[in-house]
Amino acid sequence: MNTPYTRQIERLVNGIPTQDGAGVSLTRVLTHDLQRRLDPFLMLDAFHSDEPSDYLAGFPDHPHRGFETVTYMLAGRMRHRDNAGNEGLLEPGGMQWMTAGRGLVHSELPEQENGLMSGFQLWVNLAGRDKMTDPGYSDIPSAGIPEVSPQPGVKVRVLAGEAFGTAGAIHRDTTEPLYLDIALEAGVAIDLPIPATHNAFLYVYEGKLAVGAESGDRSERRMADAGRMAVLNNAAGAAGVSVKAEQGSRFLLIAGKPLNEPIAQWGPFVMNTREQVEQAIDDFRAGRF
Ligand code: FE2
Repeated sequence: MNTPYTRQIERLVNGIPTQDGAGVSLTRVLTHDLQRRLDPFLMLDAFHSDEPSDYLAGFPDHPHRGFETVTYMLAGRMRHRDNAGNEGLLEPGGMQWMTAGRGLVHSELPEQENGLMSGFQLWVNLAGRDKMTDPGYSDIPSAGIPEVSPQPGVKVRVLAGEAFGTAGAIHRDTTEPLYLDIALEAGVAIDLPIPATHNAFLYVYEGKLAVGAESGDRSERRMADAGRMAVLNNAAGAAGVSVKAEQGSRFLLIAGKPLNEPIAQWGPFVMNTREQVEQAIDDFRAGRF
């Protein structure tokens, strides 16, 4: 009997160690060459260090236009300020979902001089018709992120979308992003629903997962270990993916409905055409953000 949770690993991707901002060491998990395959997601960075020189410089004033940035903290504190006068503090377990829209200039700076800094920043594209929307953001403290335990040994934090009947902290039309932070105890297996319309991937940040259904006498399982992104295939009619924790594991499940629009990117500006990107650069230089 085949399980309908038939998504499997299409490709395992190693993150690329790099630096960004004023010299923050991070791992770029979702890189430029996967933007079409994982539409509407443009980037995923993972940062994890207890070495202050890896993060202290932070991300001083810089612009964005045309998409959304989602910062999720596991450990450490980050202060953000923007040129519209908004300010907030990201704390462990909390998330900031920022819509850059037509543009803003902001800074993201660590609020600590030592200790562990750990978390993720995801970039979610906006449809062409929404790229010039008003900027805005939601700061969601840890207590504001719904959690659900669909079975023993499973804890799911629903950052965005809906899972196991629990609505997430953020809902977005158009791309309908699903963003889950899942903890599994060793040996636990679970079927995770993912809309069949969505591109999807997993990022394991602790432990080791067996991914894919065991169907009949032929195992379709592959391992995803910590620090690797597993791009899931878009199996027709699949209800989602089956996973089993080989060890106690924590991972992100991220999925979204593709926009299928042209992507024109120059650094922090992501538009549909090169002319729109040039306009963004002109507007930023002229102080129109
Ligand atoms: Fe930023």
